[in-house]
Amino acid sequence: MPVRLVQHPLVQDALLTLRDAVTAPEEFRRIATRISVLLAAEALKDLPTRARTVETPLGPATGQAVAGDVVVVPVLRAGLGMLDAVLGLLPTARVGHLGLQRDETTAVASQYYSRLPKGLEDSYVLMIDPMLATGGSAVSGLDLLCRAGARNIRIVCIVAAPEGVAVVERRFPDVTIFTPVIDEGLNAHKFIVPGLGDFGDRLYGTT
Ligand code: PRP
Ligand code: URA
Repeated sequence: MPVRLVQHPLVQDALLTLRDAVTAPEEFRRIATRISVLLAAEALKDLPTRARTVETPLGPATGQAVAGDVVVVPVLRAGLGMLDAVLGLLPTARVGHLGLQRDETTAVASQYYSRLPKGLEDSYVLMIDPMLATGGSAVSGLDLLCRAGARNIRIVCIVAAPEGVAVVERRFPDVTIFTPVIDEGLNAHKFIVPGLGDFGDRLYGTT
């Protein structure tokens, strides 16, 4: 099942605020972090744990501590708006960066930066990119992660288009996409409709 729809009311409420054209960058960044916390928690539900015992004021208590190595990979630049959320949940996660940019006329993504941690083979790799539109950026990022040795990859996005989902499903059937929604489709400029506009521009006020 490559798509996991996250329909939690708090996720859907945050998504609506992000969609709203009157939401200014300051609030947009805050809500992007809030929704990303919820989505990342869902995407990491299967993390392995190890039993550990601590001393409460009243005696020993055994519980579960996270045991897996997590690598979070924001796709620049919009993916940076989701990074603090994941690091807030998992401060020890390692971070890789991928710079991908869609050409404004062709919407074809090209890579301009890549810096990944070593030893991804046994890591839980979380690629974070809020918009999955044509899927070009996602496929390019996934190609790179696979070439770097990653075997357990999941994508977290905030809005997905059916076109992008179909491309990822076809090229990477083992990769699960966590998203609150799959929108209607793409317009002539390859923007998601109704979507929320250009995520990076709204995050950083570059409209
Ligand atoms: C946006 C978005 C994705 C990509 C999705 O980034 O953050 O990376 O477009 O579109 P696709 O599925 O058609 O490839 P953009 O290239 O606009 O760069 P930015 O994050 O620097 O704004
Ligand atoms: N990138 C965005 O930021 N928004 C879209 O709708 C498509 C790609």
